[in-house]
Amino acid sequence: MHFYFDKEEREVSGPMPYTFGDEFLRELRMRCDIETVVGKYTDLTQRGNSYVGLCPLHNERTPSFHINTAKQMYYCFGCHKGGDVISFIMQKERMSFVEAVHFLADMAGLKVPQKEHLDEEITQLRKKILDMNRAAAKFYYETLTADEGRPGLKYLTGRGLTPKTIKRFGLGYAPARWDGLTKHLRALGYSTNDIVAAGLASKNRTGCYDRFRDRVMFPIIDHRGNIIGFGGRTMQNGETAKYLNTSENLVFRKGGNLYALNRAKASSREGLILCEGYMDVISLHQAGFDNAVATLGTALTPEQARLMRRFAESVTVCYDSDSAGRKATSRALDILSAAGLNVKVVTVTGGKDPDELMRTENGREVFERLLKSSSNSVDYSLDEVKRKYNLDMESEKVACVREMTELLAKIYSPVERAVYTDKIAQDMGIDRRAVESETENARRKLKAKSDKEEKRRLFAELRDVNDRINPQRPQNLKAAKAEEDIISILLNYPDKIDKIEKIVSDDDFITDFNRRVFCAVKEKIKKSPTDDVILSLSDYFNPDEVSHITTFIANTEALNISEDSLKNTVQILKNEKEKRLQGAFDSDEAFQAQLERIRGKKKNGND
Ligand code: UTP
Ligand code: MN
Repeated sequence: MHFYFDKEEREVSGPMPYTFGDEFLRELRMRCDIETVVGKYTDLTQRGNSYVGLCPLHNERTPSFHINTAKQMYYCFGCHKGGDVISFIMQKERMSFVEAVHFLADMAGLKVPQKEHLDEEITQLRKKILDMNRAAAKFYYETLTADEGRPGLKYLTGRGLTPKTIKRFGLGYAPARWDGLTKHLRALGYSTNDIVAAGLASKNRTGCYDRFRDRVMFPIIDHRGNIIGFGGRTMQNGETAKYLNTSENLVFRKGGNLYALNRAKASSREGLILCEGYMDVISLHQAGFDNAVATLGTALTPEQARLMRRFAESVTVCYDSDSAGRKATSRALDILSAAGLNVKVVTVTGGKDPDELMRTENGREVFERLLKSSSNSVDYSLDEVKRKYNLDMESEKVACVREMTELLAKIYSPVERAVYTDKIAQDMGIDRRAVESETENARRKLKAKSDKEEKRRLFAELRDVNDRINPQRPQNLKAAKAEEDIISILLNYPDKIDKIEKIVSDDDFITDFNRRVFCAVKEKIKKSPTDDVILSLSDYFNPDEVSHITTFIANTEALNISEDSLKNTVQILKNEKEKRLQGAFDSDEAFQAQLERIRGKKKNGND
């Protein structure tokens, strides 16, 4: 038997050794064929899709050690040990999970990622992209005010923007060349890869070219003042997309930011105005409505609504007055109300959007009046319903009232409901009590539906988070829950660590994430037994992981934890592992034959 090297030679060090990441573990398992690794310890005979040999984990004379190459798992009928290539090394070399991973990585010539380094690299790249964006914005602005930018400047002033506004929003011009910005950034010392990572250039077979060419440029600034991306408008009609935006990257998330929020949050006007486009926002600000913001070319998200809620109590939606705009308004109303915002709606007249209105004579006064008379979201929605029906027809009228009462049913305040009940009754010329009882019906239905949805949502949310953090959880639910119970017990009774270690080991864990938690908790308890382990979880795990862990701790806290229940839980986990291992060999004839033999023996009582 040979070993790859002495254990003592190997250094397993570095901070947060447990964070390898799923990507890396997958790669490691792929590179380390289980048959090759095990083959170094015992002779294996191939049988179709599997290998059989004498078990390297215990002494035996007839082979009962099976490998399933497709599933990359092993199982021994003699000692009932089994698992994947990592657990094989753990068992054979008596290593911890971490040690085994390093051992195999060395063998495969893979570099083990260190979480600190990964985080550090990402932070560095993020900072670099932000710096680069700033340099790009400066370049675009300077080009706009130079000879080359004349068409851009002409375009912007032609749309009524003053030099002060252009400067305030840092507007610019991307030259009509393939490498204007790229050349500039390279001269500043940025690499092609960095420029591509920022989304400012694209690569093709022949080289690297500017993403934005011959467009007026709108830097997109987050509420902290970082330039996170760009929108670029063409000055031609037809042909290309009107606006081209930076694609999503490490720093640019369209659904998580709002245009001009950095300025709007400092406005002395009440609330925020939400519009559709960059130009709407800029024109409004220029006219003194400096509390206007816009989404970044996508539909409003709940995250954006919550972001607004941080800075304001109310939002006035001011989307385009075309049919797409009205549809978007209805959707936005729901999202904004759900975020706890007071919502109002302005329907722009005298132009298709706020920008056009600002360009008309008295545009500012008209808009100010529109703001004052803006309907609240209920009035707006009732109006929207009414527009859909032909009220001269009795049947349509009935349907219309019914849909209106469905809207009323959503209103939380009884007083408000009563006010609108009157309004509808009057408006539609029907008895108030009829509207009232129709609304009550709708409320009952709504409640039943929302109760169901809420349950489903909570469940899905929990499942999503769990799955993201521990992706092996859904396929191994029972095992994962047992693992989580074991971890909770250890966290609640750190002084019982010796007892716990005696009956359950790293190797019994099925999901990598929970194994990592188990290892980390054990290490922490041994290192500083007096510390509160739960509080120090953040030394080992990111905030999402910590909240996932603390949630499952909270869920098991209610459990009646005794030594017996711990043993039960461990047994569940071990059974699950065994089931999984045997399952891996379901289609394996040699394995099945062995299984039959053992079962036969057991039946005959001569085991
Ligand atoms: P609109 O098509 O309503 O344009 O797009 P607009 O705001 O009136 O633009 P101007 O006045 O013609 O210059 C609204 C927003 O949708 C996104 C942009 O964010 C734009 O501000 N958009 C639009 C795109 O991302 N790509 C497009 O091709 C068009
Ligand atoms: Mn417009």
